[in-house]
Amino acid sequence: MLYHIKKLLRKRQLEKARELLDHAKFVDGRLSAGKVAQRVKRNEEMAGSEQQMEYLNTLVLGALVEHPLFKLAALPHRMSGAFFARYTAGMEYGEHIDDPVMGPMGGRYRTDVSSTVFLSGPDEYEGGELEIKTPFGENLVKCEAGDAVFYPSGSLHRVRPVVSGERLVAVTWTQSMIRDPGQRAVLAELGQAREQMLETEPEAELTRKIDHSYINLVRMWAEL
Ligand code: NI
Repeated sequence: MLYHIKKLLRKRQLEKARELLDHAKFVDGRLSAGKVAQRVKRNEEMAGSEQQMEYLNTLVLGALVEHPLFKLAALPHRMSGAFFARYTAGMEYGEHIDDPVMGPMGGRYRTDVSSTVFLSGPDEYEGGELEIKTPFGENLVKCEAGDAVFYPSGSLHRVRPVVSGERLVAVTWTQSMIRDPGQRAVLAELGQAREQMLETEPEAELTRKIDHSYINLVRMWAEL
């Protein structure tokens, strides 16, 4: 499943992030890529000071982990820090699947969910669509600045070449409590139904049954 969060970042948050990124140092993105990805990765990544990174991390990841759809559909257990990537004319990220395990020794996490937060808008660059392949065809994603998408990390995807302008994104990986993307999709739907029932008919017997089923399914499937 591909999930889209509109307006994850408010205008002020977006402006602050952009201001910082406009003055930050960027380095070749291949430095952080795995063996296979290195061959197809053509972008730049922010190499800011610890303070800058922490500020941006809190700003972007804070909004993501607090978002109700992300909580329900990603069921996060551990998160990576955010990587801030820049693509200018001619840059792209060829077809790949994300590395299965990331992070340093002692701080490793499995990548179940990949997230992209768009920090520049579709009018700021030509090309640069995020293309995600699913068994039912390909999704082309080019969102408004401040929007986010997330999808299973095992999906084949790429960033099409940027023709002109500048594409700025934050990307992050999540180890989910629920490893299997199919089980996550079931829980996302059931969890949404449960929230709605708890809101509209908190005392109903049906609500109680849905609530208990949801809770026990999470217990049955969760891996920590
Ligand atoms: Ni990727």
